[in-house]
Amino acid sequence: MTEAILLVGGKGTRLRPLTVHTPKPMVPAAGVPFLAHQLARARAAGVEHVVLATSYLAEVFEPYFGDGSQLGLHLEYVTEREPLGTGGAIRNVASRLRSGPNDPVLIFNGDILTGLDINSLVETHQRTGADVSLHLTRVSDPRAYGLVPTDATGRVTAFLEKPQTPEEIVTDQINAGAYVFDRSVIDSIPTGRPVSVERETFPGLLAAGAHLQGLVDSTYWLDLGTPQAFVRGSADLVLGRAPSPALPGRRGDRLVLDGAQVAEDAKLTGGTVIGADARIGAGARVEGSTVLAGAVVGEGARVRDSLIGAGARIGARTILDGAVVGDGASVGADNELRDGMRVWCDVAIPTGAVRFSSDQ
Ligand code: GDD
Ligand code: MG
Repeated sequence: MTEAILLVGGKGTRLRPLTVHTPKPMVPAAGVPFLAHQLARARAAGVEHVVLATSYLAEVFEPYFGDGSQLGLHLEYVTEREPLGTGGAIRNVASRLRSGPNDPVLIFNGDILTGLDINSLVETHQRTGADVSLHLTRVSDPRAYGLVPTDATGRVTAFLEKPQTPEEIVTDQINAGAYVFDRSVIDSIPTGRPVSVERETFPGLLAAGAHLQGLVDSTYWLDLGTPQAFVRGSADLVLGRAPSPALPGRRGDRLVLDGAQVAEDAKLTGGTVIGADARIGAGARVEGSTVLAGAVVGEGARVRDSLIGAGARIGARTILDGAVVGDGASVGADNELRDGMRVWCDVAIPTGAVRFSSDQ
């Protein structure tokens, strides 16, 4: 097992790929572009060649990862002219693979943070002789995912992407976004048009009697597709709950990157990350949050489970709880932003403008 495909494109990804509102593979999680964690884990599992399948400019990735040699990888980039969907993206990079027809190829969704033992998925694939093997995890609400029931031996019996009706929800096992494909299955995906691996390839393979094998593994798993999940994932990386060889520092309650200035009596807890050259004022408390490079958190501010974009400014005594502040935005002093509020990039909120609680 030496090859992998990483899916890092899709609809909407052309829009502001670096802002905190649509967490993208290059937004830093625990100090390094999120993708670095996945690449480092793949390398640690023995993968040597990775093809990045993107539908937006490879220029976003290349300046940072280059040819991958710093990670001990050989990295290639393939950019789709129009998004080809997950299956189309996989097919589109087939010519870059070096594997033979019966060799296994790893494929990952690019927005997943997981502790999956990659080699156990490969081992399952080889032991069962499956055409495709899928990492499955259990969640309480499967509606945002691909539902994957299996029989007693772990063989997949159906694949239901984004199930909506109660009748469709027949299991709590979902597609965790990591697969092993036989190379020949990749070559059988149609070319030149969008294909969804979840809505077309998997159901089609099952209808044709192919062997899809599930590996249910309850290790750490998170889809980082929302800013809230991104903040959670970043904190879990720092705390060591989500394992990553790419963490730029020691595990612990906080990660403070080079050039950041933190007032002596400021409190940083819960896996908080303070980005390079950020400043945290006196008496501020920051818990389970990500403060990106160059941002400023004023004196006495209280920040919890929030994401503060690069260069953003948070005024004195302001409260952020479950909020997202875009790159370059400014939130004046004495504001209170809670649960799911998003301040767009470069916007300015004046002093004392927004509160949830009464105004005494
Ligand atoms: N290159 C490329 N081109 N990549 C794509 C495209 C495309 O057209 N469309 C999606 N991707 C990439 C995304 O960047 C992401 O890394 C991955 O494929 C999955 O796409 P999402 O858009 O994040 O899908 P999802 O989160 O709604 O659902 C998927 O992931 C779930 C687990 O998090 C599905 O695979 C579900 O079945 C699964 O449960
Ligand atoms: Mg996703």
